[in-house]
Amino acid sequence: MITIALTKGRILSETLPLLAAAGIVPDSDITKSRKLIFETNREDIRLVVLRGSDVPTYVKRGSADLGIAGKDMLMETGGDNLYELLDLNIARCRLMTAAVKGREPIQGKTRVATKFTEVARRYYASQKRQVELVKLYGAMEVAPLLDLADEIVDIVDTGNTLIANGLEPLDLIADISSRLIVNKASFKIKNAQLMPIVENIQSELGVSQ
Ligand code: PRP
Repeated sequence: MITIALTKGRILSETLPLLAAAGIVPDSDITKSRKLIFETNREDIRLVVLRGSDVPTYVKRGSADLGIAGKDMLMETGGDNLYELLDLNIARCRLMTAAVKGREPIQGKTRVATKFTEVARRYYASQKRQVELVKLYGAMEVAPLLDLADEIVDIVDTGNTLIANGLEPLDLIADISSRLIVNKASFKIKNAQLMPIVENIQSELGVSQ
């Protein structure tokens, strides 16, 4: 059995055509069902739908063989025990720092609110800036408005959420897109089963780009 971990939410609808191109079709409508594990038209393949931040964990620990995860989540959780096989070029966005528009430069320690605490810790260290990190789980844009933080580290897509909340983007930390990842042991042991899936997705990417 091959288990493929998918990220729920916005990425999912862009993921399904790639799987279809690899000949993998779920047995019911994933986007509408409350089920989390789906059989497919292939007896040997099942799909599991997870929060993006949990996909790398399932793949690293071998509970899922393949996974589709945002580069932001991979940067946050680290890459041991998995290989990043393909850039799927979907769910593209940027990981950025942002602050209240036109604010004065911060003297001393900067308070940074984010759910990407590992990425933020590394980024500000690389800039030789001292920070106090505040872990949040969503709606990071609120933090500078209520003086919980001076800056945020968050995903920026259209930039509308920043604008709507009177914030502005500052520094680009990384360009983000979804990646196909594989458990290292699975890649060895199940290589003959996995490679056709990977190659089919890769050729579909070549067609659509
Ligand atoms: C993400 C991100 C921003 C917003 C950016 O949140 O955290 O809030 O999208 O998009 P924009 O630049 O197009 O406005 P999401 O809606 O994914 O919810 P989350 O806060 O639960 O991550």
